Amino acid sequence: MIFTVAIDGPAAAGKGTISRAVAETFGFAHLDTGALYRAVGVKGGDPVLAAQTLSVEDLARDDLRTLEAGQAASRVAVIPEVRAALLAFQRRFARREGGAVLDGRDIGTVICPEAEIKLFVTANAEVRAHRRWLELGGDEAQVLAALRERDARDMGRAAAPLKPADDALVLDTSELAIDAAIARAIAHVQAHLRAAPKQSPR
Ligand code: DC
Repeated sequence: MIFTVAIDGPAAAGKGTISRAVAETFGFAHLDTGALYRAVGVKGGDPVLAAQTLSVEDLARDDLRTLEAGQAASRVAVIPEVRAALLAFQRRFARREGGAVLDGRDIGTVICPEAEIKLFVTANAEVRAHRRWLELGGDEAQVLAALRERDARDMGRAAAPLKPADDALVLDTSELAIDAAIARAIAHVQAHLRAAPKQSPR
């Protein structure tokens, strides 16, 4: 069965948590596409070459989740050739047999516009910065400033900017607890699977 769940949204909105829960519930494979851009960003050197030669080791680095890696990822993500180098892998993953959940910025709009399910997970910047600060520590005001800078770059770039697909279900987690957001996402997938009974997940 080919079945894609595309989950897009800004940093620290809850995409990763929701993606992992949906993947686990339905037995789908999960790809955190932000990790690809983070790995390119921290690799250094020519980012286009880094994207073209990205390896399993690059993706296993233990410094991919830092604030700096997030900023570096956002900077290399504006380069169309970097995005192009990562596109085929993501598309193949999305349409792999057995179902897939991909989270990122452009999954429902560019990587897999034909995705059966599209979610746009968002929250206001203060709430997201607070969550990231709880995770990473440091100075909360600096975390908020970095997050705003990243939002502006990710939304303002010409190549595949962050925006909800026209047919995405928007989940605003500013005041919605993460468990409730997960429940809504799972119910949305279930409703779609019920409407197409031949596409049972397992
Ligand atoms: O989801 P994340 O915070 O790990 O993403 C890091 C950066 O990578 C994000 O600020 C922009 C870029 N990115 C992107 O341009 N497209 C994606 N599909 C995923 C991430």
